[in-house]
This record gives sequence, C-alpha cells and structure tokens, in this order.
Amino acid sequence: MNKVFNICLAIETSCDDTSVALVDGSGFVLGLKSQNQDSVHSPFGGVIPELACRNHTMRILPLIDELFAETKISWSQVDGIAVTSKPGLIGSLLVGVTVAKTLAMLHDLPIVGVNHLEGHLHAPLLSDEKYKPFENFTYPFVGLCVSGGHTSLYSVKAFGKYLLLGRTVDDAAGEAFDKFGKILGLGYPAGAKIDLLAKAGNSKAYSFPKSFMKKDDLQFSFSGLKTAGSLKIKELGSALTETVKADLCASYQEAIAEVLVEKTLRALKKTGLKRAVITGGVSANSRLRELATEEFSKAGVEFLIPPMRYCTDNAAMIGIVGIKRLQRGENDSLTLHPESFMKISELG
Ligand code: KG4
Ligand code: ZN
Repeated sequence: MNKVFNICLAIETSCDDTSVALVDGSGFVLGLKSQNQDSVHSPFGGVIPELACRNHTMRILPLIDELFAETKISWSQVDGIAVTSKPGLIGSLLVGVTVAKTLAMLHDLPIVGVNHLEGHLHAPLLSDEKYKPFENFTYPFVGLCVSGGHTSLYSVKAFGKYLLLGRTVDDAAGEAFDKFGKILGLGYPAGAKIDLLAKAGNSKAYSFPKSFMKKDDLQFSFSGLKTAGSLKIKELGSALTETVKADLCASYQEAIAEVLVEKTLRALKKTGLKRAVITGGVSANSRLRELATEEFSKAGVEFLIPPMRYCTDNAAMIGIVGIKRLQRGENDSLTLHPESFMKISELG
C-alpha cells in the first residue's frame, strides 16, 4: 500500500530568505516561519552570497524549532522533507540541502529536492486560515513567475508538466526595480519601497520604454528600461524632490506592470487558456495586482495571485510541491546536491 503523506517539512534557502514551513497534503499551510536578511545586505546594495550563507546557517535550526513549537506539531507527525535544491546561490542552497539531508537521516524520513520556480508557480494554490484559492481553480493555467532573478511565462499543463512560453532575455523585472531603487537611494531590495512611493505619484508624469511590446513573441527585456530610468534620474539631478521621486516611481512601476500584464494576456490568447497566476516577489506589487485583476476580469480570465506572505521567497511553496511529489512516490536519495543553475529545458 502507498504511504500516506500528510505533513511535510519544507526548507527554502535559495537566496537571502531563510524560511521553513509545515504543509499538509492539500497544500494547507500549518505553519510558516521566515526571516529575511534585508538589513544584512542593504548596506552593500545587493545580496552578498557569503553573508547570505552564514546567516542561513545561524537561523535555520532555531527557525525549525520555533516552527514546531508554534504549530505544536511533533517530528513523529512529519512524513517527509522538501527542500529547494535549485536554482539559486550555491552556498545558500547548500545550507538548506545539508540541513534537510541531516534531518531526513536523523528522523528516517524521505527527502525531495524542489525547483524554486516550480515552487513559485504553485504558491497561489496554497491555502491557510486566511487565504483560499478558488475551489475549482486547477491545471492547466498560464503562470507568470516574476521575481528578483526570473521573469518567465509558463503554460502549466499539469503538475510536473510545464512549457516555457517566454522569458526575459536580459534582466528580471525585480532586478529592474532594485537597480532603479538603488540609484534613487532607496537601498536594497527596493521593489516594495518603489511600490510605496508610487502611491503618492503620477504614473503618467514620465514615459518609460516598454520593451518588446511590438514583438509577436512572449519574451521580455528590462535592460532598456533600467538604463532609461538611471538616465532620467541623472538628468533630473538636483530637481529630484520627493514629489518628483514619487512620480518617477509611479511611472517606472507602471511600465513594468503594463508589460507583465500584456504579455500574460498574450500568453492566454496563444494557449487558449482561461486561467492565470502571477507569482514571485514582484507579484507583491500593488499596481501589478490591481492592473492584472482589472484586465483579467475584463478578459474573463480566472486569476490567482498569492497573498503577500507567499509572493516573496517562502518555504510553504516548496512544501506544496514537495508533498505532491512524495504523494506520487517520488523522492531523492541522500546524495541530493544543490545546483546553482537549471537547464531551461528542465521546467519547460
Ligand atoms: O521571489 P523573491 O523573493 O526572490 C527571488 O526569487 O528573486 O523576489 C524578490 C524580488 C526583489 O527584486 C524585490 O524588489 C521584489 O521581489 N519585490 C517587489 C515588491 N516586493 C518585492 N517588487 C515590486 N513591488 C513590490 N511590492
Ligand atoms: Zn524566488
């Protein structure tokens, strides 16, 4: 008889968020504990891999202890361990994978390595006391994964069956937010700060390039926007008042949101699908959420976007993929090793 997988411990350390979660077989999040390292990396204007790795090492075991204490779940109730094994910063991934393997050995549990992007694509399908996806929302759907490292559109045909429809040929949308914010002096990461400043700004004040909108494919490009943003900031120089900053942020953010929504609409048209998800750190952006909700509703598209806690890197999204894998009888051996890169063909 197949073993029933009721509860999975999940670990995510692919970049600079240390996150652990307990997820049940339906994707319900029993507990999630995350700690970001923004204050560690902010003075450097970007993630310093060695510092990320060291901070994961210091925080991961205490976070797991806190997770078990808060959920009142014991190790004897856990049926398996899921861990992000790719892609990401190799030192960061190594901490999560080593901890997962050690715990699997100690507690005699199966282990499964999860692709970080596959996790993001499933984040909108998680549920908890406060969030539930639409009851009949299921595969197939179009998934836009938009984060600090990725901007990719997928046709998610079924669990484990992904077709890459398009991706960025240069920078990710999150990187475009972060670099622009850095030049504006907003620190790192800057996406959420730009979002906040933009609320007081006029999105029509400045015109920023929306790349590849005339191209008939589903590729993205944000490097031109990044350059235009930095040139505009230099040109404004001492005229950069708080009001001007707010207008700049609103206009820059609008250009990104419009491209992301438009390309997702095109992907829906191309695939004939009527369901979509937008996920990844940038999906926390309030203008993107608003525009997508508006446009997809007009187009009659059923649309899911995860609540904030599941937008940025978190272990719950790794848990839902991990437990599905375990339920299908798939697991990895204790020789599982982290991989910094993934082949494009791997997820699509
Ligand atoms: O998914 P994530 O936590 O990590 C990666 O896998 O990259 O995404 C982090 C990215 C950063 O670039 C951050 O600036 C961006 O998500 N981000 C946002 C917002 N919140 C986070 N970008 C725009 N608006 C936001 N509210
Ligand atoms: Zn991510």
